Amino acid sequence: MWKKNLSLFGMFKEALVIDSQFPNREILVKIAKEYGADVFFAQHGKKGVSLVNEKHFDILFFDIHEDEHLFDELVRELKRSGSRPYLVAMGDLTSLTKIVKVLKQGADDYLIKPFSSHHIERLISKACLRKKEALPESKTLIAKSPKMQEVLFEAAKIAKSHANVFIQGESGTGKEVFAEFIHQQSYRKSAPFVRVNCAAICENLMESEFFGHEKGSFTGALNTKPGRFELADRGTLLLDEVTEVPLSFQAKLLRVTQELEFEKVGATNSQKVDVRIISTSNRAMQKAMEEKKFREDLFFRLHVIPLYLPALRERKEDIRYLAAHFLEKSCRDNLKPQKIFSSGAIEKMEHYSWPGNIRELRNVCERLAILSPNEEILEEELLFDISTKDSEQMSLFKEEAIIPLAEVEERYIMDVLKHFNYNKTKAAEALKINVRTLRNKVSN
Ligand SMILES: Nc1ncnc2c1ncn2[C@@H]1O[C@H](COP(=O)(O)OP(=O)(O)OP(=O)(O)O)[C@@H](O)[C@H]1O
Ligand SMILES: [Mg+2]
Repeated sequence: MWKKNLSLFGMFKEALVIDSQFPNREILVKIAKEYGADVFFAQHGKKGVSLVNEKHFDILFFDIHEDEHLFDELVRELKRSGSRPYLVAMGDLTSLTKIVKVLKQGADDYLIKPFSSHHIERLISKACLRKKEALPESKTLIAKSPKMQEVLFEAAKIAKSHANVFIQGESGTGKEVFAEFIHQQSYRKSAPFVRVNCAAICENLMESEFFGHEKGSFTGALNTKPGRFELADRGTLLLDEVTEVPLSFQAKLLRVTQELEFEKVGATNSQKVDVRIISTSNRAMQKAMEEKKFREDLFFRLHVIPLYLPALRERKEDIRYLAAHFLEKSCRDNLKPQKIFSSGAIEKMEHYSWPGNIRELRNVCERLAILSPNEEILEEELLFDISTKDSEQMSLFKEEAIIPLAEVEERYIMDVLKHFNYNKTKAAEALKINVRTLRNKVSN
């Protein structure tokens, strides 16, 4: 029995089936839907060709037996519209030359009729994997454990709704990765995905950052500037660390979530936006509300659909896949020969509690990719103590692994500089030191 690969759920958003034969069509529609696609169908080739003019599909099934000559027209239409779905031609096993011909014309696969649901599942799964491989690295989302497959399934379902989403999880569990996944799976995917790190904006700039400002509305406002809400219009706005929004600004945020309307700083007119808000928090929200640091009414506006990301220690099955992925990527990015983890190392990683979750695992892999002299990384090279039960005991370093403070500072500054594309002014601003101090520290 072919097993459905849930991590591929939602990979295809829109499918088109061009086939007049009832039983075939029904199986295709059923399975494509099970993989999370919205399925459209056309009984005739001509109708199908006109549909590809109106919509971009991710996967397309075409019965060439019906309208063989139209296949050529379909391929031309697809090229003209700039859309590149996974194209599956379907037909009898009449002649091999015919099959070769459609593959040459541009079909990605040929499905021989009659087919069973097993054949389609295999094909869809292969097509999904091809698409997944073509995704840029930043979109990689590994979710192999049963727990994470459920979360992924939930997230793909949530994506199709319009409601605001609240993602909760410890630091480094992938809240931002999931927020982007939801956006990519939603009807808003072609509009912008805008992220605001609420913890990084100082209180007096909040209004201008969120709503923008008019030229001359305050000292330094040299030009009219759009805010994050305007930039995210028709798309998704990610309010990262939303608990960090100061109380003084929460009423204004509440208004825009209710009315989807705001005014730029210094403007007299209000403007409307169509934005879906995804918020994240790694703090206990309940506590923030009890302490009156976060307004309950705002919380309920943002928390229409909750999504909880489990800590890495609660999904140990993912560790080996994540580790292999990060190690491979870090070796590649740092032009190092490829390395692998020994089975002992994997076991040790699976027994560790990962208080910093996936981010911590990524950093460990990055460090080993650069520093380990071995092709196979051994468990002794992992310097954490697996007897530690929780994050408080994390300070049990091996003496030889302690890094001098000056070196930590230097490495950190270099990371910050890299983050800001080596723009010293921006890096100094973020580090809250002046540029001269930064220059001195870097040149030392
Ligand atoms: N499921 C996943 N598959 C692959 N990489 C992941 C996954 N989840 C997270 N990551 C990686 O782990 C790192 C941390 O993820 P992310 O920034 O989304 O976490 P976060 O929950 O937003 O953390 P914080 O609360 O600290 O902001 C990133 O490098 C991200 O690419
Ligand atoms: Mg984050």
